[in-house]
Amino acid sequence: LNNGLALTPPMGWLHWERFLCETDCQKEPWRCISEQLFMQMADMMVFQGWLDAGYQYLCIDDCWLAPERDANNRLQADPIRFPGGIKKLADYVHDRGLLLGIYQDVGKKTCAGFPGSKDFYELDAQTFADWGVDLLKFDGCYYGTLDELEDGYRRMSVALNRTGRNIVLSCEWPLYARPLTKVNYTEVAEYCNSWRNFADVSDSWSSVKAILDWTAILQNSLVPAAGPGAWNDPDMLVIGNFGLSWDQQVTQMALWCIMAAPLLMSNDLRDISAESKALLQNKEVIAINQDPLGAQGYRILTRWKKDSNFELWEKPLSAISLAVSITNRMEQGGPRRIEFSTTMLWKGTVCKKKCYITQLLPTRQEYGYLNITAKLPLWVNPTGTILLRID
Ligand code: DGJ
Repeated sequence: LNNGLALTPPMGWLHWERFLCETDCQKEPWRCISEQLFMQMADMMVFQGWLDAGYQYLCIDDCWLAPERDANNRLQADPIRFPGGIKKLADYVHDRGLLLGIYQDVGKKTCAGFPGSKDFYELDAQTFADWGVDLLKFDGCYYGTLDELEDGYRRMSVALNRTGRNIVLSCEWPLYARPLTKVNYTEVAEYCNSWRNFADVSDSWSSVKAILDWTAILQNSLVPAAGPGAWNDPDMLVIGNFGLSWDQQVTQMALWCIMAAPLLMSNDLRDISAESKALLQNKEVIAINQDPLGAQGYRILTRWKKDSNFELWEKPLSAISLAVSITNRMEQGGPRRIEFSTTMLWKGTVCKKKCYITQLLPTRQEYGYLNITAKLPLWVNPTGTILLRID
């Protein structure tokens, strides 16, 4: 969407995967969806280095709404869980240099059953602008017909634009439209700053794997649609939670950077290990994701031994550099050796004579210059990834 926003993939925090729809603040004061949760996360983002690392959007997902609109049909936050209202929360967030994201749905109801935006697109867009909202995640439950779904996304996009406020629009249009039609990514990219394509991420390796495989299978239609202002969204980073091993966390971080994905963490910033935090805050790795060229990376077909179980992806970077990931997809055994050579790459020609190789993950290491006939032996752990920068 050409609104001057999200020129690199949006970075921030989104509550859904980790906090879901807990509305009972009496029983679960520490993790219910409430203004207190977001104020605490805002403080963490500022004082624990997240904002400095680039994570700027603090995003509310489903379950923030009161069960009904007000007497003037305006949306209202749940009065018990958000006693100050969204405007006050937005002020709190802005005072700390962060931006606020909110959630709504194109249909009659949100997925969790709260009032949706159908029939109120213009009013809701104005309400969000009045409150000082900076990003809208626009879900697609209860959409009605395909026409209503698509029209709803278009109308909300136009309505947000007309408010004159800078509001990033994060859509789920392709995810809901795919079963019914061939998705027109050129059009989706005209109306949305990012869009979900695939089912919700969960806190598991099987989920991360499925998203990667699915993205690779559809890469010929997904990759050309991505660029500054328009991003494919493979869903949240679940690093720092319970389901991924260390190697799998490295894989998610490396590949989400290669895919030029929005980096929206869903974890508990009040309680996160030093390792996960360092991984998520790694500046050189984030720079791959935030590269100004805005090219989405893609899986390179295994041109070497088909059964080797290594998977390579590459992402073109500005200044004719490349990022390359090497994942060991074997789920048995120990570290496996690959003889890496720049001739394996599709854009390996960027290394006409030689290239400088820096390993960014799982640990930083400089391998120095590699000429095109040389081979670099690397060991990759099962389900782990090595991320290289090639200059
Ligand atoms: C479905 C979306 O895909 C999720 O990311 C989340 O927003 C839920 N709906 C909330 O109900």
